[in-house]
Amino acid sequence: MPSGLGDTTAFSYAELAAATGGFSEGNLLGQGGFGYVHRGVLPGGREVAVKQLKAGSGQGEREFQAEVDTISRVHHRHLVALVGYCIDGARRLLVYEFVPNSTLEHHLHAKGLPVMDWAVRLRIALGAAKGLAYLHEECDPRIIHRDIKSANILLDDNFEAMVADFGLAKLTSVNHTHVSTRVMGTFGYLAPEYASSGKLTEKSDVFSYGVMLLELLTGRRPGDRSSYGQDGLVDWARQALPRALGDGNYDDLVDPRLRGGDYDPTEAARLVACAAASVRHAARRRPKMSQIVMALQGDLPLEELSDGVRPGHGGAAFSSSSGGSGSGSEYGSGSYTAQMERIRRAALPSPEYSSEYPGSIPEYGHPSPASSVDRDDRRRQGGRRWLVHD
Ligand SMILES: Nc1ncnc2c1ncn2[C@@H]1O[C@H](COP(=O)(O)OP(=O)(O)OP(=O)(O)O)[C@@H](O)[C@H]1O
Ligand SMILES: [Mg+2]
Repeated sequence: MPSGLGDTTAFSYAELAAATGGFSEGNLLGQGGFGYVHRGVLPGGREVAVKQLKAGSGQGEREFQAEVDTISRVHHRHLVALVGYCIDGARRLLVYEFVPNSTLEHHLHAKGLPVMDWAVRLRIALGAAKGLAYLHEECDPRIIHRDIKSANILLDDNFEAMVADFGLAKLTSVNHTHVSTRVMGTFGYLAPEYASSGKLTEKSDVFSYGVMLLELLTGRRPGDRSSYGQDGLVDWARQALPRALGDGNYDDLVDPRLRGGDYDPTEAARLVACAAASVRHAARRRPKMSQIVMALQGDLPLEELSDGVRPGHGGAAFSSSSGGSGSGSEYGSGSYTAQMERIRRAALPSPEYSSEYPGSIPEYGHPSPASSVDRDDRRRQGGRRWLVHD
């Protein structure tokens, strides 16, 4: 009989191999930055997703168990529950509740699927916000997700959002190379202060959540520059969102597949105001997740998202910036895209990475070949250590 910490089950490797048909190809659900994920069925019939952390990414047993214990205590309708784990020599596996309807990324961007309608998008935005608000504001200890992106929003059969992989980046942060490649892999969602100095707070999750809202709203990938000239999604949004909030016309923002009145303008205003506030340059000016939950539900006047800066008092709540892309009081120091590109070039000097933006990172969302980063990590002791120690 498996034993465990708290309400988490400790599985043997043999039990998980049996549950997944020997980690068979047929049961492979996908692969992310941490390793393979297989579907499994436990002896009682419960469906699970088994994530094998890459060899060498494991912490010591004691630290691993402590983190697993923290994560497994978290239970919320919009958070994917950790049901167990396995430590077997150097192997580390995590066993999650199975979420049947793939990811938000898949439903937004895969070809040949029905268009997600407006109500579904709003429900996903709200569910994910509730899950994150719980992690940030109700958990003890509080948990910063660190890797919010559409691929980490799983969906159930009713298209309710289930936030996956919270705390996982911390669980594997001992593996330096792995974390640095992962940070690179999700660059399009990264808060600028986290990217530039490694400063990690709940507000860096809020930034990434804001990027995900932009993705829901527009149907575009964060790294897709084809529709926005030199600007990425964030810089484009910093110009376009305040304008739309000013004139109440959201037609140019919403996913072209939803145009022709297939969205509710009142709800669009809420979503747009939340996105605009979440991708602010200054972390302290971004709202808390609980404020976003209220705003999306219509329980918070949208002006409250303006962080106390009232129109006519040193900058309108959502004023469009006056200068070039993203400059001006609202969004601070210049273009997000340009800043991230500078950081990326400095961190990954290999020609393989130097010329293009996140969306076109080779194997986007997956670990890149480690060699260039290994080299980089050795050369940059000190200055770049934030990339590997967060
Ligand atoms: N609990 C789960 N239930 C069902 N499918 C899952 C579950 N967890 C993961 N998956 C599937 O496995 C795939 C890979 O997940 P994984 O988390 O490893 O990758 P990722 O989210 O793209 O990257 P990251 O490593 O940054 O989280 C997902 O795209 C999803 O389809
Ligand atoms: Mg994931």
